Amino acid sequence: MYDVITIGTATQDVFLKSRDFKVLKDERFITGQAECFALGAKIEVPDIFFTTGGGATNAAVTFARQGFKTAAICKVGKDASGQGVINDLRKEKAGVKWVARDVGEATAFSVILIAPNGERTILVHRGASEYLKESDLPDARDFKAKWFYVAPLGGENAHIFESALKIANKNGVKIAVNPSKTQIKMGLKEMRPLLSMVSIFILNQEEAALLCDLPFKEEKLIFKTLDAAIDGIVVMTKGPKGVVISDGKNLWRAGTYPEKEVVDRTGAGDAFGSGFVAGLLLKNDIDYAIKIGSANATSKVEHMGAKTGLLYKKDLNNPRWKKLEIKKEQL
Ligand SMILES: Nc1ncnc2c1ncn2[C@@H]1O[C@H](COP(=O)(O)OP(=O)(O)OP(=O)(O)O)[C@@H](O)[C@H]1O
Ligand SMILES: [Mg+2]
Repeated sequence: MYDVITIGTATQDVFLKSRDFKVLKDERFITGQAECFALGAKIEVPDIFFTTGGGATNAAVTFARQGFKTAAICKVGKDASGQGVINDLRKEKAGVKWVARDVGEATAFSVILIAPNGERTILVHRGASEYLKESDLPDARDFKAKWFYVAPLGGENAHIFESALKIANKNGVKIAVNPSKTQIKMGLKEMRPLLSMVSIFILNQEEAALLCDLPFKEEKLIFKTLDAAIDGIVVMTKGPKGVVISDGKNLWRAGTYPEKEVVDRTGAGDAFGSGFVAGLLLKNDIDYAIKIGSANATSKVEHMGAKTGLLYKKDLNNPRWKKLEIKKEQL
């Protein structure tokens, strides 16, 4: 019996930082600016950092570091990067028996180019990570856990979203979902039957507005709409502004712990979501879960890499994580 089984992507990431990556304003790019270097030049990269990422493995590492029996369902290639992902999970004492290996596709690979101002551009090859098949899911008789943490299942992986939820639901495993763009784009009407299986739904404010087809600012209306579809907890993250959470009756609002320095926000969403669920497993209390999710995310953004900085159980005793203002109001 596992405490938590996670599902989602697994990647090899490389972070490159150079003073020679320049930021130029240019409206031809969707963000209005571009990260640039000279074509034909050789650019020195003094800082290089290898790590693994992907929602399934990031969340699994949070749970394992909090002392929970954990396994990740994900897919890598039959290459050195894939072996690296497996080694990382093993080192973290997270179960790897459901890490599938694709013969045709390479392990997902991200190159993260960090500019001197801390902003970054991510180049992504999704590779094997998006080719999970139904046959990669555990048999129903092996699917024994308290919680199933579903990190974003996008691209081809979206095909198994429904069957994965159904296996867990049939086995009485509680489900937490951080949806992918594919599920958000389905819209609420199509998502509703699937959401009835979900106990915790975690998404950022833009995703929530898009799913409900409501204006971004209509926060309470968004919650009322999502609460009607979910018989559990809705978690809306708002980046550096913090988080708002509803259980259908009450709203909790919290900012973030002050960070020493924002080094890299890759994986902040995974850190908060998995930290929140870990908090609920440790103590069935929403205030406590907000603190653990938030502490995990703040500690993460202070480090480079999606897993670096994720908290261990002993870290929770740090006085730094004791005080976070949380306001509770009726919905
Ligand atoms: N500097 C920070 N930037 C962003 N989030 C932070 C920061 N510090 C702490 N956090 C916490 O991390 C959570 C991450 O949520 P965010 O809204 O950024 O998720 P997201 O947009 O889904 O992120 P991702 O791109 O990782 O999927 C926030 O709700 C917040 O509590
Ligand atoms: Mg996210």
